[in-house]
Amino acid sequence: MSRNQVDSGELHIPVADLSRRTQKYREVIDEAIGRVLDRSNFVLGGEVESFEKSFAEYIGTQFCVGVANGTDAIELSLKALGVTSGDRVATVANAGYYASTAIFAIGAEPLYLDVEFKTRNVSANETQRAIRLGVKAIVVTHLYGMAVNEIQEISKLCAEAGVGLLEDCAQAQGAEVNSRKVGTFGDLASFSFYPTKNLGALGDGGAVTTSNEVLASRLKELRIYGWTSKYKVSRFGGRNSRLDEMQASILNVLLPSLDAENQRRREIAESFKSQITKTGLTLPTFDSNEYVGHLFVISSPKREAVREHLDSMGIDTALHYPIPDHKQPIDQSKNGEIELPVSERLCDEVFSIPCYPELNQIEIDRIISAINLVRG
Ligand SMILES: Cc1ncc(COP(=O)(O)O)c(C=O)c1O
Repeated sequence: MSRNQVDSGELHIPVADLSRRTQKYREVIDEAIGRVLDRSNFVLGGEVESFEKSFAEYIGTQFCVGVANGTDAIELSLKALGVTSGDRVATVANAGYYASTAIFAIGAEPLYLDVEFKTRNVSANETQRAIRLGVKAIVVTHLYGMAVNEIQEISKLCAEAGVGLLEDCAQAQGAEVNSRKVGTFGDLASFSFYPTKNLGALGDGGAVTTSNEVLASRLKELRIYGWTSKYKVSRFGGRNSRLDEMQASILNVLLPSLDAENQRRREIAESFKSQITKTGLTLPTFDSNEYVGHLFVISSPKREAVREHLDSMGIDTALHYPIPDHKQPIDQSKNGEIELPVSERLCDEVFSIPCYPELNQIEIDRIISAINLVRG
């Protein structure tokens, strides 16, 4: 029984609730796991191959390479683009440090770009600054499920300058710009299938999509020790980073429902958008399919007061993300040198409210009325 049911008998709405999704798909999940157990081939087998084919088709690329998680997908993609120790890679600082982790793992150096307050995403203008400063590659994150609306322009700028472009689509599986899915604009695109993602596995999982055959075959080598054939190591920088059969089998049965799940998320987000009338809050702005409702993120200079009020009404919130990458305690050496006013403000002001397909109407109404009742 949840905290609030115990305390007051009232509804408690968690910010994520995977048990509801597991319950909904329990039968097909059991069947999928059963299939893998029957075959007992657990790494890089038919389920992974089949998922790679279906996911490439879904995104609209020629290739998909399954890897162990979304952070590895970034690291291996950057390596496939030729990024090595000492290179500079541009990325945003408000997206949870995942790209930074991958960049540092290579020994490369992040160049942080600021984001737009309205979209919470990077702009073409800001990526142009990175290109002028001589970065080797740019990681563009489609944050919170919102496609970077200038991705086409960014892709053109990178291509003209010979700068590698990696789209981080971990939070935006299925989002579109001009009827084209994100993950088709960059040289490569990384995905995470962490359980809470719109398409989530039952553990870690990730993938890279691309239509570049050379990059796809580099990735296939990089995910398995740099092998070009068994035990023959030809590519430097290889890792052991494979999507396993169990996770791939789950993704295979969930992928066909992704569009419907995204549509439901969007509908819930639309209800929030049209019915939350409380002033002083900045809600996300989105245009139909550009947004897949991964997170519904509000910003407020009075964040803590709003969160406390929601908590008192049994509604959980979360912070995505409270610390910008350049302010993380791990490295204070450049503290003060880097200024990203919009990212810093957003990290101080953003909070996420529950937004997932399994929310029922009573819960949705409850969230809306609780927010509209915030005082001050
Ligand atoms: C935007 C973004 N990029 C990368 C990742 C890293 O994915 P993973 O947790 O699978 O390593 C995540 C997720 O957790 C993410 O949200």
